[in-house]
Amino acid sequence: MGRPSVVATCAACGHTQPRWTGQCGRCRAWGTIEEAAAEPRARGEAGTGIRATSLRDVPRDAADRLPAGIGELDRALGGGLVAGSVVLLGGEPGTGKSTLLLQAAASLATGHEVVYVSAEESAAQVRLRAERLDVLDAPVRVAAATKLPDVLALVEQHQPDVLILDSVQTIHDPDRDSSAGSVVQVRECAAALARMAKANGVATVLVGHVTKEGSLAGPRTLEHLVDAVLLMEGDRSHALRLLRAVKNRFGAAGEVGCFEMTSTGLDEVTDASRLFLDDLDATAPGVCRTVLLEGPRPVAVEIQALTVPSTLASPRRQTNGLDASRVAVLTAVLQRRGEVPMASRDLFASVVGGIRVEEPAGDLALALAVASSVADRPLPPRLAAIGEIGLGGEVRPVPQLDRRLAEAARLGLSVAVVSRRWDGPDQGIHLHRVDSLVDAVGLLEMTGKHSAAREQPARVRQPAGA
Ligand code: TYD
Ligand code: MG
Repeated sequence: MGRPSVVATCAACGHTQPRWTGQCGRCRAWGTIEEAAAEPRARGEAGTGIRATSLRDVPRDAADRLPAGIGELDRALGGGLVAGSVVLLGGEPGTGKSTLLLQAAASLATGHEVVYVSAEESAAQVRLRAERLDVLDAPVRVAAATKLPDVLALVEQHQPDVLILDSVQTIHDPDRDSSAGSVVQVRECAAALARMAKANGVATVLVGHVTKEGSLAGPRTLEHLVDAVLLMEGDRSHALRLLRAVKNRFGAAGEVGCFEMTSTGLDEVTDASRLFLDDLDATAPGVCRTVLLEGPRPVAVEIQALTVPSTLASPRRQTNGLDASRVAVLTAVLQRRGEVPMASRDLFASVVGGIRVEEPAGDLALALAVASSVADRPLPPRLAAIGEIGLGGEVRPVPQLDRRLAEAARLGLSVAVVSRRWDGPDQGIHLHRVDSLVDAVGLLEMTGKHSAAREQPARVRQPAGA
């Protein structure tokens, strides 16, 4: 009881749905839906006639894709929205979710029926944004609604291919006692919308706000209800936005789309590395480049460190875009294993451009940036450092190093510091293989001192008496 049973099947694509419609919800063919005769089961008959087939005989589920026409969004989605599926777009307020979806709605509206329901802003506010994004003439249907039955009525009325609802936290079902925005309301509304999406073949996108802690009346609790979860990342002080697929039933989780917020909306960034590296020949003390992986895509970034003598008993370690506890560990390793004096120095470290370094692959570049700042010597120009550092100061190879090296070579970098334990091809870049942090820090002896005015020994050692 309660669960809708399948009563109609498309003769063309095999799609099943709970009720008969003139057009197939998946393949959009007309007149192909056949109602199954609901044969009453003979009393005492065992089972329901269900059969298992070999994997090869299972028909391919040809998901009907609706490309959004925005390359970086389609990349994160795995090729586009899927008819009848539900995507949850999460992210902190102000990251650009509404902007992205209005741009996507405008793009999708050429060729598809798109209904954009705003439950947070008035239709006039949506219009204002559309003006700013220069999509006012796109044939998107816009409605402001906060009640679930109203949203479902809009779907019934317009039979859209795509429904966008911004946001799921501000919609409520008046038939339920719990207040709008409560976990129960959010979950029940999302479940009702998911049923609607499946039954009508509507590609549905729900916006969900996520706080810094990663939840708020639970978009996280919605993850199992939806087919895909995309998270919009980026801080307001930078233009960079990363759209990360954390779950995708129809594509690869881990895919990342890259955007830049401009005064006229989100621009696609197809070559992210060039966003973060400009002048390759520029070197300065405290700067080191590395190549991260954002999903399957290698991205070159620049890590900067500044160290100054500390007046505090416990020196400051201030970071931006780096994991603070990772920085603390690396500082300790530099002190003990890298012969770099850190005990009485404040450290400020950041990543250029608003990207976050979450991977241990950035360890070596951070350590070299710090050592370079302490020595007040730049690293050799056009150098990238890619490696994980262990507590013993050993430098370890990282996953997919070959792809990272290829990216460094593509950008015009000429030397890569990597672990000696890596024995793959050089990908067209000169490899400087090191066993340990001390080996890597030795690179600083190859370059001239930054400030000739202040004579210091070339080797980075604890000054006598410090
Ligand atoms: P918004 O899409 O409203 O974020 P969200 O829906 O995730 O809360 O936009 C966030 C910010 O982006 C907002 O502070 C204004 C800025 N913005 C631009 O810089 N350029 C634009 O074209 C638009 C529409 C917004
Ligand atoms: Mg918004």
